[in-house]
Amino acid sequence: MKFKVMGLLLLLIGPSASQAQKAGKLHLTKEFVNTNLHDAVGQMKYLASQTDADKMPRSFEKGKLSTSNTAWWTSGFFPGSLLYLYEATGDKELLSLAKERLRILEKEKFNKGTHDLGFMLFCSFGNALRLTGDSTAYKEILATGAESLSSRYSPVTKTILSWDHTSWQYPVIIDNMMNLEFLTQLTKITGNKKYWDIAKNHANTTIANHFRKDYSSYHVVDYDKTTGKAIGHYTAQGAFDESAWARGQAWGLYGYVMMYRETKDKTYLEQARKIAKFYLNHPKLPADLIPYWDFDKDDLKPDNKYYKNKDLRDVSTASIVASALLELSLYTKGKEGEGYLRKAEKMLESLASPAYKATQGELDGFILKHSVGSIPHGTEIDVPLTYADYYYIEALIRYQRMLAGEQVIKQ
Ligand code: GLY
Repeated sequence: MKFKVMGLLLLLIGPSASQAQKAGKLHLTKEFVNTNLHDAVGQMKYLASQTDADKMPRSFEKGKLSTSNTAWWTSGFFPGSLLYLYEATGDKELLSLAKERLRILEKEKFNKGTHDLGFMLFCSFGNALRLTGDSTAYKEILATGAESLSSRYSPVTKTILSWDHTSWQYPVIIDNMMNLEFLTQLTKITGNKKYWDIAKNHANTTIANHFRKDYSSYHVVDYDKTTGKAIGHYTAQGAFDESAWARGQAWGLYGYVMMYRETKDKTYLEQARKIAKFYLNHPKLPADLIPYWDFDKDDLKPDNKYYKNKDLRDVSTASIVASALLELSLYTKGKEGEGYLRKAEKMLESLASPAYKATQGELDGFILKHSVGSIPHGTEIDVPLTYADYYYIEALIRYQRMLAGEQVIKQ
């Protein structure tokens, strides 16, 4: 109960953009945002028409749409994108397209084999709960899902286990920071403090073990499951163990901005600011602010099997970072806050430019080109990705709310 009241208070005093707007600090126009949201609606409707009813769109590779079943980690992003666009436009067709996909996704509430239930269930059913009156059904789905996710938590390592069946003992990846919002929100929704404690413990353990001195992060930390000690630092999707895999930096940044919003614990804000500093000041960040897939890709030697792809950009990282920086700008003052806003604006301008944005009807309806799934696994290389589109739409909507002087983060 206490947490429900706290949730309501946070909602009422939640961050608003009115100050930034009053000060005339927003450089992108309403037309820019509306045009890009309009184009996104066209593409997402087309994508819905191209995707089999029992599948979720994943990417577009070798001239063909690729889809996934609902157990794949990206299955929540398409319904989430449709719901965001329904929110932005009021177009009911988008809501009904989203509901069709939610129906096939619901069964994942019982999935205890993945740490990605936040992506899968909160980006989808979390938005559905927020935007519709169907609260009893959606709350039950989310509550069951939060139990499934919590089943992967160890009080010894004080983290949620990322992957089963690897050669590691107890691997935790930086990506998992993104699944914590599901847990903090479910405490607010259900009143069960267990989820909140798991989220905080995971975030604190990750600060202790996942970051280097320069605040770049490792992708994978392996823990001894009997002592809880970190016993190894690795990568699975980056260029090499000591490299800064771009999307990992994005997940960490977004994750700590979000954890600050959820808890108001300043440690998380400080962590987010340090990650942003590493990322934004990195000499290898290109002028258009769309990063290479790995900040250390130039250390790869010509005989390395990733070398031929080393100069690829990762648009998904830019989408995630743009959305995170818009939120970080709300929690930071003066030049610093304005700096985050300027960078997010530049990222959105780049993403919406012909270099990265597909034309209407292109790519079966995906919005953004040139993302990288995993170069080490040889999968989804230089393609559109459903999560690149989701966070791009989220960033546009956050900016739309800023322009309107509305509360930017709605829960
Ligand atoms: N969570 C997987 C990825 O970022 O590719």
